[in-house]
Amino acid sequence: MKPARIAILPGDGIGPEVVAEAVRVLKAGAFDWLQFEFVEAPIGGAALEANDDPLPPRTLAAARSADAILFGAVGDPRFDTAPRAKRPEQGLLRLRQELGLFANLRPATVFPGLEAASTLKPEVIEGLDILIVRELTGDIYFGLPRGIRAMPGGEREGFGTMRYTEGEIRRIARVAFEAARRRASRVCSVDKANVLETSQLWRETVTEVGRDYPDVQLDHMYVDNAAMQLVRSPRQFDVLLTGNLFGDILSDEASMLTGSIGMLPSASLDEAGKGLYEPIHGSAPDIAGKGIANPLATILSAAMMLRYSFSSEAGAARIEQAVARVLRSGARTADLGGGAQAPVGTRAMGDLVISELHS
Ligand code: IPM
Ligand code: MG
Repeated sequence: MKPARIAILPGDGIGPEVVAEAVRVLKAGAFDWLQFEFVEAPIGGAALEANDDPLPPRTLAAARSADAILFGAVGDPRFDTAPRAKRPEQGLLRLRQELGLFANLRPATVFPGLEAASTLKPEVIEGLDILIVRELTGDIYFGLPRGIRAMPGGEREGFGTMRYTEGEIRRIARVAFEAARRRASRVCSVDKANVLETSQLWRETVTEVGRDYPDVQLDHMYVDNAAMQLVRSPRQFDVLLTGNLFGDILSDEASMLTGSIGMLPSASLDEAGKGLYEPIHGSAPDIAGKGIANPLATILSAAMMLRYSFSSEAGAARIEQAVARVLRSGARTADLGGGAQAPVGTRAMGDLVISELHS
């Protein structure tokens, strides 16, 4: 059988370190009948440095022709003052848009034993299992017009446009309802319909789509309230459906419920189910190159890849269970707060997961 082609885009900061561990896990796992072929390409600051372009044509081509994409992180403070098109983040944003990766799935679960790593009380987050479904190719992230313009009198004004078409809302809503059917059958749609027209249309359209899913309970919540409820009583949520901007913010917030942003994986899927898989944490330039970053979010992203791109539920579950066993054994990277033992580094954490895969 033809090997599955995986494009590896390590990117910036800790990206290369954590991606390396996920690749080792994929190579070591012997997952079902799957054989992998890896093609690496530069993106973000790394690509700006080499090609003056955060998404060089050969990287886009490698991503297009791959069956799935494993992505590290983009972001490098050296480019903070560069013009927008020459910033590392544009590499990722353009890739999402070019490949139509509109459906971003961000599960937030608390692994047994990690309850104490969260800043919230263990009884608030124990057993937490939320799926954030974030729309990824629309909203004020991509809406035109946008820019910074000079006003009469010389003062400058920044502006952007929050916009969603009914079609864009419908397709992401369907992803959320379908996902809810495989879980606890509840969707909470997050918006700001009391203030924003875009949100008003969002709420109307999600409500309409909900009629096709009478077996799924649908609620709506304003984003400010949702941000509050997430730390007040997060277990009330099953699937959280949001637009691009609100989802960006709420998913970072949700990550802290689980103990560390270093634990959250994600999948970004197109209409055909092709996916890009990435940890939700960023490039963390402050700890890059030190070998202390937590590779588990990326390793768990590789598990999502097996589940969504290669229909290997068994392979995904094997990785997730290996991670759970490693954590139960007490091993912790520095971000998880020292357990009983001294913190383990990036590579050592990868080794532990690999040895659990074989046990
Ligand atoms: C994320 C990140 C990106 C986003 C950045 C790096 C462009 O924060 O994936 O959540 O804002 O979507
Ligand atoms: Mg973000």
